[in-house]
Amino acid sequence: MFNHYSVLKDEVLQGLEVRSDGTYVDCTVGGGGHSEQIAARLGDEGMLVAFDQDRDALDAAQNRLKQYDSRTMFVHANFRELEERIAHHQLGKIDGILFDLGVSSPQLDRGERGFSYQHNAELDMRMNQNQERTAREIVNEWPYQQLVKLFFSYGEEKFSKQIARKIEGERKKQPITTTHQLVDLIKEAIPAPARRKGGHPAKRIFQALRIAVNDELTAFNDALHQAARVIGINGRIAVITFHSLEDRLCKQAFKKWSTAKPVPRNLPIMPEDHKPPFQLVNKKPIVPGSQELHDNRRSRSAKLRIVEKVREWDETFTYEEGWN
Ligand SMILES: C[S@@+](CC[C@H](N)C(=O)[O-])C[C@H]1O[C@@H](n2cnc3c(N)ncnc32)[C@H](O)[C@@H]1O
Repeated sequence: MFNHYSVLKDEVLQGLEVRSDGTYVDCTVGGGGHSEQIAARLGDEGMLVAFDQDRDALDAAQNRLKQYDSRTMFVHANFRELEERIAHHQLGKIDGILFDLGVSSPQLDRGERGFSYQHNAELDMRMNQNQERTAREIVNEWPYQQLVKLFFSYGEEKFSKQIARKIEGERKKQPITTTHQLVDLIKEAIPAPARRKGGHPAKRIFQALRIAVNDELTAFNDALHQAARVIGINGRIAVITFHSLEDRLCKQAFKKWSTAKPVPRNLPIMPEDHKPPFQLVNKKPIVPGSQELHDNRRSRSAKLRIVEKVREWDETFTYEEGWN
């Protein structure tokens, strides 16, 4: 069974304004919860393309969406291939794109995947089981300075140096191969009073390792900019993030795309070519309500941001740079 509680399901559905004849892309199909809702709203003319880099997730979603087989296409790939795959299948402009970032509950709950500090398993953390780089490689092979930087920037961990030093000392004696071996080292490295505050002491280091193993921020940033290009006019991009690093990327990109080119003060109206290509659908991120927070603890850090494409960009605008 693939049990994943889909976060902000109604809000995503409303936000995407699914049309029965539209073409939609779910970049992170996971257990297929959001996709199922989208597919149910499509008619014969509609189409859903569902990406996941995790074979188990894709199989589970395919099974769940069996009844919509004729209108769904499953793609086992990293979503950084979004633009390429859409061109390859000649799908034209897309009407809605969803990113529901991070890991799914089964990835965390299946101890053997090595994502969770709660389960003892091989240090793995790969979302795509065909990929070579694992958490074990990073923990055992990255130099001390690189580990410190990783823990600090992707984990926002105050005791990055102490933890990296501990790892460095331990791996001289024996390889660090399991999640619990790492958890013990983290606990030993963090001073006792700090260990009792701010949730599980290994949480931030596990997050940092997971981001690095799966190159999550770069992949998301690339794919988000591709999404801006492949989405059609009136099409929407919805993004659910679970930590501040990915939310910041999303917020900054959406802001850049929805900000007009500065106009001289004396101009009475804004020239057409100064208007931005996107507009924000919600100014503030949408967060789960009290019922959802009660039903699903994992939703507590979720933030949903949505933008709509309102015009094609002027040639002095690029999604990466904004206005030149
Ligand atoms: C939070 S879950 C999605 C859950 C899904 N929305 C649902 O309702 O069941 C995130 C999924 O995205 C996948 N994923 C994360 N990063 C990815 C990437 N760069 N490319 C493709 N899939 C990715 C993960 O493997 C995971 O299955």
